[in-house]
Amino acid sequence: MLPTIAWKNDKVLMIDQRKLPGEEVFVECSSYICVAEAIEKMVIRGAPAIGVAAAFGVALGVFGLKKDQGLEQEFDRIYQRLEKTRPTAVNLFWALERMKKVFLANSAEGLSRLKQRLLDEAKNIEREDVEANKMIGYWGKDLFQDGETVLTHCNAGALATAGYGTALGVIRAVFESGKKITVYADETRPFLQGARLTCWELVRENIPVVLITDNMSGYLMKKGEISAVITGADRITRNGDAANKIGTYSVAVLAREHGIPFYIAAPMSTVDFELQDGDQIPIEERSPDEVRKISGLCLTIENVEVRNPAFDVTPAEYISAIITEKGVARPPFKSSLAELRMDLQD
Ligand code: MRU
Repeated sequence: MLPTIAWKNDKVLMIDQRKLPGEEVFVECSSYICVAEAIEKMVIRGAPAIGVAAAFGVALGVFGLKKDQGLEQEFDRIYQRLEKTRPTAVNLFWALERMKKVFLANSAEGLSRLKQRLLDEAKNIEREDVEANKMIGYWGKDLFQDGETVLTHCNAGALATAGYGTALGVIRAVFESGKKITVYADETRPFLQGARLTCWELVRENIPVVLITDNMSGYLMKKGEISAVITGADRITRNGDAANKIGTYSVAVLAREHGIPFYIAAPMSTVDFELQDGDQIPIEERSPDEVRKISGLCLTIENVEVRNPAFDVTPAEYISAIITEKGVARPPFKSSLAELRMDLQD
Protein backbone atom coordinates (compact mmCIF):
# COMPACT_ATOMS: atom_id res chain seq x y z
CA MET A 1 0.00 0.00 0.00
CA LEU A 2 1.13 3.58 -0.61
CA PRO A 3 3.12 5.06 2.26
CA THR A 4 1.42 8.42 2.96
CA ILE A 5 2.45 8.70 6.60
CA ALA A 6 4.06 6.43 9.18
CA TRP A 7 5.30 6.52 12.76
CA LYS A 8 8.81 5.08 12.94
CA ASN A 9 11.37 5.20 15.77
CA ASP A 10 9.49 8.00 17.54
CA LYS A 11 9.40 10.10 14.38
CA VAL A 12 6.71 10.87 11.83
CA LEU A 13 7.56 10.08 8.22
CA MET A 14 5.58 11.58 5.37
CA ILE A 15 6.06 11.24 1.65
CA ASP A 16 6.66 14.76 0.35
CA GLN A 17 3.62 15.32 -1.86
CA ARG A 18 5.02 18.61 -3.19
CA LYS A 19 7.75 16.67 -4.97
CA LEU A 20 5.61 13.96 -6.56
CA PRO A 21 5.62 12.54 -9.16
CA GLY A 22 9.19 13.60 -9.96
CA GLU A 23 10.80 12.52 -6.69
CA GLU A 24 9.73 10.03 -4.04
CA VAL A 25 11.31 11.54 -0.92
CA PHE A 26 10.21 11.50 2.71
CA VAL A 27 10.09 14.30 5.26
CA GLU A 28 11.03 13.12 8.75
CA CYS A 29 9.58 15.04 11.70
CA SER A 30 10.77 14.73 15.25
CA SER A 31 8.69 17.64 16.59
CA TYR A 32 5.05 18.66 16.44
CA ILE A 33 6.07 22.01 14.95
CA CYS A 34 7.63 20.16 12.02
CA VAL A 35 4.33 18.25 11.54
CA ALA A 36 2.33 21.50 11.72
CA GLU A 37 4.57 23.08 9.09
CA ALA A 38 4.30 19.97 6.90
CA ILE A 39 0.51 20.32 6.93
CA GLU A 40 0.68 24.06 6.16
CA LYS A 41 3.17 23.62 3.34
CA MET A 42 1.28 20.69 1.77
CA VAL A 43 3.95 18.06 2.37
CA ILE A 44 0.87 16.15 3.44
CA ARG A 45 -2.62 17.15 2.34
CA GLY A 46 -6.09 15.72 1.86
CA ALA A 47 -8.66 15.86 4.65
CA PRO A 48 -8.24 12.42 6.28
CA ALA A 49 -4.45 12.50 5.87
CA ILE A 50 -4.10 15.80 7.67
CA GLY A 51 -6.28 14.41 10.48
CA VAL A 52 -3.90 11.47 10.85
CA ALA A 53 -0.89 13.80 10.67
CA ALA A 54 -2.34 16.05 13.37
CA ALA A 55 -2.94 13.04 15.62
CA PHE A 56 0.66 11.86 15.19
CA GLY A 57 1.73 15.48 15.71
CA VAL A 58 0.03 15.53 19.12
CA ALA A 59 1.69 12.24 20.07
CA LEU A 60 5.05 13.60 18.94
CA GLY A 61 4.53 16.80 20.93
CA VAL A 62 3.82 14.87 24.13
CA PHE A 63 6.72 12.48 23.42
CA GLY A 64 8.91 15.59 23.52
CA LEU A 65 7.83 16.48 27.09
CA LYS A 66 10.17 15.60 29.96
CA LYS A 67 8.20 16.27 33.13
CA ASP A 68 4.72 15.73 34.54
CA GLN A 69 4.32 19.35 35.64
CA GLY A 70 2.28 21.75 33.53
CA LEU A 71 1.06 18.98 31.22
CA GLU A 72 -2.22 20.67 30.48
CA GLN A 73 -0.60 23.93 29.30
CA GLU A 74 1.89 22.00 27.21
CA PHE A 75 -0.90 19.98 25.64
CA ASP A 76 -2.88 23.13 24.85
CA ARG A 77 0.16 24.65 23.17
CA ILE A 78 0.59 21.59 20.95
CA TYR A 79 -3.14 21.40 20.21
CA GLN A 80 -3.40 25.09 19.33
CA ARG A 81 -0.43 25.02 16.99
CA LEU A 82 -1.78 22.04 15.05
CA GLU A 83 -5.33 23.42 15.06
CA LYS A 84 -4.36 26.54 13.16
CA THR A 85 -2.63 24.77 10.26
CA ARG A 86 -5.55 24.52 7.83
CA PRO A 87 -9.14 25.64 8.44
CA THR A 88 -11.41 23.79 6.01
CA ALA A 89 -11.02 20.03 6.47
CA VAL A 90 -12.97 19.07 9.57
CA ASN A 91 -11.00 15.81 9.92
CA LEU A 92 -8.15 17.83 11.41
CA PHE A 93 -10.31 19.11 14.29
CA TRP A 94 -12.05 15.76 14.65
CA ALA A 95 -8.70 13.98 15.08
CA LEU A 96 -7.42 16.63 17.52
CA GLU A 97 -10.57 16.24 19.61
CA ARG A 98 -10.07 12.48 19.76
CA MET A 99 -6.51 13.03 20.96
CA LYS A 100 -7.69 15.55 23.54
CA LYS A 101 -10.20 13.08 24.98
CA VAL A 102 -7.43 10.50 25.41
CA PHE A 103 -5.21 13.14 27.00
CA LEU A 104 -7.90 14.15 29.49
CA ALA A 105 -8.71 10.56 30.37
CA ASN A 106 -5.05 9.64 30.98
CA SER A 107 -3.21 12.79 32.02
CA ALA A 108 -3.23 11.78 35.68
CA GLU A 109 -1.56 8.45 34.98
CA GLY A 110 1.97 9.70 34.47
CA LEU A 111 3.82 10.83 31.40
CA SER A 112 5.10 7.53 30.08
CA ARG A 113 1.66 5.88 30.17
CA LEU A 114 0.11 8.99 28.61
CA LYS A 115 2.62 8.92 25.75
CA GLN A 116 1.72 5.31 24.97
CA ARG A 117 -2.03 6.03 25.13
CA LEU A 118 -1.71 8.98 22.74
CA LEU A 119 0.41 7.02 20.29
CA ASP A 120 -2.09 4.15 20.41
CA GLU A 121 -4.92 6.56 19.64
CA ALA A 122 -3.07 8.13 16.70
CA LYS A 123 -2.44 4.63 15.34
CA ASN A 124 -6.14 3.81 15.83
CA ILE A 125 -7.11 6.88 13.82
CA GLU A 126 -4.71 5.81 11.07
CA ARG A 127 -5.93 2.19 10.99
CA GLU A 128 -9.62 3.13 11.16
CA ASP A 129 -9.16 5.51 8.25
CA VAL A 130 -7.88 2.73 5.98
CA GLU A 131 -10.72 0.46 7.15
CA ALA A 132 -13.28 3.20 6.45
CA ASN A 133 -11.87 3.73 2.97
CA LYS A 134 -12.12 0.03 2.17
CA MET A 135 -15.76 0.13 3.27
CA ILE A 136 -16.40 3.25 1.17
CA GLY A 137 -15.04 1.25 -1.77
CA TYR A 138 -17.25 -1.69 -0.86
CA TRP A 139 -20.45 0.38 -0.80
CA GLY A 140 -19.48 2.60 -3.70
CA LYS A 141 -18.43 0.02 -6.28
CA ASP A 142 -21.99 -1.07 -7.11
CA LEU A 143 -22.88 2.43 -8.27
CA PHE A 144 -20.65 1.87 -11.32
CA GLN A 145 -21.28 -0.35 -14.34
CA ASP A 146 -18.69 -2.12 -16.42
CA GLY A 147 -16.96 0.27 -18.83
CA GLU A 148 -17.66 3.63 -17.15
CA THR A 149 -15.56 6.75 -17.69
CA VAL A 150 -15.41 8.61 -14.41
CA LEU A 151 -14.19 12.15 -13.82
CA THR A 152 -12.44 13.02 -10.58
CA HIS A 153 -11.14 16.34 -9.30
CA CYS A 154 -8.09 16.88 -7.08
CA ASN A 155 -6.65 13.85 -5.30
CA ALA A 156 -8.85 11.84 -2.96
CA GLY A 157 -6.60 8.82 -3.09
CA ALA A 158 -4.23 6.91 -0.87
CA LEU A 159 -2.09 10.03 -0.60
CA ALA A 160 -5.00 12.07 0.77
CA THR A 161 -5.77 9.48 3.43
CA ALA A 162 -3.96 6.91 5.56
CA GLY A 163 -4.30 4.57 2.57
CA TYR A 164 -6.57 3.33 -0.27
CA GLY A 165 -8.42 6.63 -0.67
CA THR A 166 -12.04 7.75 -0.70
CA ALA A 167 -13.01 8.69 -4.29
CA LEU A 168 -10.02 6.72 -5.60
CA GLY A 169 -10.88 3.99 -3.08
CA VAL A 170 -14.22 3.54 -4.88
CA ILE A 171 -12.40 3.53 -8.21
CA ARG A 172 -9.91 0.97 -6.88
CA ALA A 173 -12.78 -1.22 -5.63
CA VAL A 174 -14.54 -1.04 -9.03
CA PHE A 175 -11.28 -1.97 -10.75
CA GLU A 176 -10.54 -4.79 -8.27
CA SER A 177 -14.04 -6.20 -8.85
CA GLY A 178 -13.05 -6.82 -12.46
CA LYS A 179 -15.15 -4.07 -14.08
CA LYS A 180 -13.55 -1.89 -16.69
CA ILE A 181 -13.18 1.72 -15.61
CA THR A 182 -11.37 4.72 -17.08
CA VAL A 183 -10.62 7.76 -14.92
CA TYR A 184 -10.53 11.28 -16.28
CA ALA A 185 -8.35 13.30 -13.91
CA ASP A 186 -8.75 17.07 -13.78
CA GLU A 187 -5.29 18.59 -13.42
CA THR A 188 -6.63 20.74 -10.50
CA ARG A 189 -4.95 24.11 -10.65
CA PRO A 190 -3.28 25.73 -8.84
CA PHE A 191 -1.62 22.93 -6.86
CA LEU A 192 -2.06 20.25 -9.55
CA GLN A 193 -3.09 17.44 -7.21
CA GLY A 194 -4.87 15.74 -10.12
CA ALA A 195 -2.00 15.92 -12.61
CA ARG A 196 0.72 15.13 -10.09
CA LEU A 197 -0.87 12.84 -7.51
CA THR A 198 -3.99 11.18 -8.93
CA CYS A 199 -2.19 10.27 -12.16
CA TRP A 200 0.81 8.99 -10.19
CA GLU A 201 -1.35 6.77 -8.00
CA LEU A 202 -3.44 5.33 -10.83
CA VAL A 203 -0.62 4.76 -13.30
CA ARG A 204 1.42 2.77 -10.77
CA GLU A 205 -1.59 0.44 -10.31
CA ASN A 206 -2.39 0.19 -14.03
CA ILE A 207 -5.80 1.78 -13.61
CA PRO A 208 -6.54 3.57 -16.90
CA VAL A 209 -6.32 7.34 -16.44
CA VAL A 210 -6.59 10.26 -18.86
CA LEU A 211 -5.34 13.67 -17.74
CA ILE A 212 -7.36 16.75 -18.76
CA THR A 213 -7.08 20.42 -17.88
CA ASP A 214 -9.75 21.87 -15.62
CA ASN A 215 -11.59 23.58 -18.45
CA MET A 216 -12.17 20.46 -20.58
CA SER A 217 -14.82 18.58 -18.61
CA GLY A 218 -17.83 20.46 -20.08
CA TYR A 219 -16.73 19.60 -23.61
CA LEU A 220 -16.23 15.93 -22.73
CA MET A 221 -19.54 15.69 -20.87
CA LYS A 222 -21.39 17.21 -23.82
CA LYS A 223 -19.81 14.63 -26.10
CA GLY A 224 -20.99 11.82 -23.81
CA GLU A 225 -17.46 10.83 -22.82
CA ILE A 226 -17.99 11.05 -19.06
CA SER A 227 -20.55 8.81 -17.38
CA ALA A 228 -20.11 9.85 -13.72
CA VAL A 229 -18.17 12.18 -11.43
CA ILE A 230 -16.72 11.20 -8.06
CA THR A 231 -14.74 13.41 -5.66
CA GLY A 232 -13.76 13.46 -2.02
CA ALA A 233 -14.76 16.17 0.48
CA ASP A 234 -13.12 18.28 3.16
CA ARG A 235 -16.25 19.03 5.14
CA ILE A 236 -19.88 18.03 4.66
CA THR A 237 -22.55 19.86 6.62
CA ARG A 238 -25.63 18.19 8.09
CA ASN A 239 -27.77 19.13 5.05
CA GLY A 240 -25.30 17.50 2.63
CA ASP A 241 -23.50 20.61 1.29
CA ALA A 242 -19.89 19.57 0.62
CA ALA A 243 -16.68 21.58 0.59
CA ASN A 244 -13.97 20.16 -1.64
CA LYS A 245 -11.07 21.41 -3.75
CA ILE A 246 -11.75 24.61 -5.67
CA GLY A 247 -13.38 23.74 -8.99
CA THR A 248 -15.52 20.91 -7.64
CA TYR A 249 -18.62 23.11 -7.65
CA SER A 250 -18.15 23.96 -11.35
CA VAL A 251 -17.85 20.25 -12.18
CA ALA A 252 -21.01 19.48 -10.18
CA VAL A 253 -22.99 22.16 -12.03
CA LEU A 254 -21.78 20.78 -15.36
CA ALA A 255 -22.67 17.24 -14.31
CA ARG A 256 -26.21 18.32 -13.41
CA GLU A 257 -26.60 20.14 -16.73
CA HIS A 258 -25.61 16.97 -18.59
CA GLY A 259 -27.62 14.53 -16.46
CA ILE A 260 -24.48 12.84 -15.10
CA PRO A 261 -24.43 11.50 -11.52
CA PHE A 262 -22.16 13.40 -9.13
CA TYR A 263 -20.93 11.39 -6.14
CA ILE A 264 -19.02 12.39 -3.04
CA ALA A 265 -16.98 9.72 -1.23
CA ALA A 266 -15.96 10.54 2.34
CA PRO A 267 -15.72 8.96 5.79
CA MET A 268 -18.24 9.99 8.46
CA SER A 269 -15.40 11.92 10.15
CA THR A 270 -15.76 14.43 7.29
CA VAL A 271 -19.38 15.16 8.20
CA ASP A 272 -19.64 18.16 10.50
CA PHE A 273 -23.01 17.75 12.19
CA GLU A 274 -22.43 21.02 14.06
CA LEU A 275 -22.88 23.04 10.87
CA GLN A 276 -26.29 23.51 9.26
CA ASP A 277 -25.12 24.32 5.74
CA GLY A 278 -22.16 25.06 3.53
CA ASP A 279 -22.23 28.83 4.10
CA GLN A 280 -20.80 28.14 7.56
CA ILE A 281 -17.72 26.28 6.30
CA PRO A 282 -14.51 28.32 6.62
CA ILE A 283 -12.77 28.45 3.25
CA GLU A 284 -8.99 28.62 3.25
CA GLU A 285 -7.34 31.29 1.12
CA ARG A 286 -3.79 30.33 0.18
CA SER A 287 -0.76 32.24 -1.04
CA PRO A 288 -1.19 34.21 -4.29
CA ASP A 289 2.09 32.75 -5.51
CA GLU A 290 0.45 29.34 -5.90
CA VAL A 291 -1.58 30.93 -8.71
CA ARG A 292 1.14 33.16 -10.13
CA LYS A 293 3.77 30.45 -10.33
CA ILE A 294 4.23 26.82 -11.28
CA SER A 295 7.35 25.09 -9.90
CA GLY A 296 8.78 28.50 -9.03
CA LEU A 297 8.31 29.80 -12.59
CA CYS A 298 6.23 32.98 -12.77
CA LEU A 299 3.43 32.63 -15.36
CA THR A 300 2.15 36.17 -15.15
CA ILE A 301 2.97 39.71 -14.03
CA GLU A 302 4.89 39.30 -10.80
CA ASN A 303 2.62 41.38 -8.58
CA VAL A 304 -0.70 40.89 -10.32
CA GLU A 305 -3.58 40.70 -7.88
CA VAL A 306 -4.74 37.16 -7.28
CA ARG A 307 -7.56 35.28 -5.55
CA ASN A 308 -6.72 31.83 -4.30
CA PRO A 309 -9.59 30.20 -2.42
CA ALA A 310 -8.51 26.59 -1.93
CA PHE A 311 -12.01 25.11 -1.67
CA ASP A 312 -15.59 25.67 -2.80
CA VAL A 313 -18.89 24.32 -1.60
CA THR A 314 -21.13 22.15 -3.74
CA PRO A 315 -24.75 22.55 -2.60
CA ALA A 316 -26.48 19.31 -1.64
CA GLU A 317 -28.94 19.53 -4.54
CA TYR A 318 -26.12 18.83 -7.01
CA ILE A 319 -25.01 15.68 -5.20
CA SER A 320 -26.52 12.35 -6.26
CA ALA A 321 -25.17 10.38 -3.30
CA ILE A 322 -22.62 10.56 -0.49
CA ILE A 323 -20.71 7.31 -0.13
CA THR A 324 -19.52 6.67 3.43
CA GLU A 325 -18.11 3.69 5.31
CA LYS A 326 -21.55 3.21 6.85
CA GLY A 327 -23.37 3.05 3.53
CA VAL A 328 -24.62 5.29 0.73
CA ALA A 329 -26.58 8.39 1.76
CA ARG A 330 -29.16 9.65 -0.76
CA PRO A 331 -31.06 12.94 -0.72
CA PRO A 332 -32.50 14.32 1.44
CA PHE A 333 -29.15 14.16 3.19
CA LYS A 334 -30.33 15.73 6.41
CA SER A 335 -32.16 12.52 7.29
CA SER A 336 -29.94 10.00 5.46
CA LEU A 337 -26.72 11.31 7.05
CA ALA A 338 -28.38 11.47 10.47
CA GLU A 339 -29.38 7.81 10.08
CA LEU A 340 -25.84 6.77 9.21
CA ARG A 341 -24.61 8.74 12.20
CA MET A 342 -26.91 6.75 14.49
CA ASP A 343 -25.37 3.60 13.03
CA LEU A 344 -21.97 4.99 13.96
CA GLN A 345 -23.01 5.41 17.58
CA ASP A 346 -24.30 1.80 17.90
O1 MRU B 1 -5.76 21.27 -0.55
P1 MRU B 1 -5.82 19.78 -0.45
O2 MRU B 1 -4.94 19.07 -1.41
O3 MRU B 1 -5.65 19.30 0.97
O4 MRU B 1 -7.32 19.43 -0.87
C1 MRU B 1 -7.72 18.09 -0.86
C2 MRU B 1 -9.09 17.86 -1.37
O5 MRU B 1 -9.80 18.77 -1.70
C3 MRU B 1 -9.57 16.44 -1.35
O6 MRU B 1 -10.45 16.21 -2.40
C4 MRU B 1 -10.29 16.17 -0.03
O7 MRU B 1 -9.47 16.52 1.05
C5 MRU B 1 -10.69 14.77 0.11
S1 MRU B 1 -9.34 13.69 0.36
C6 MRU B 1 -9.87 12.12 0.59
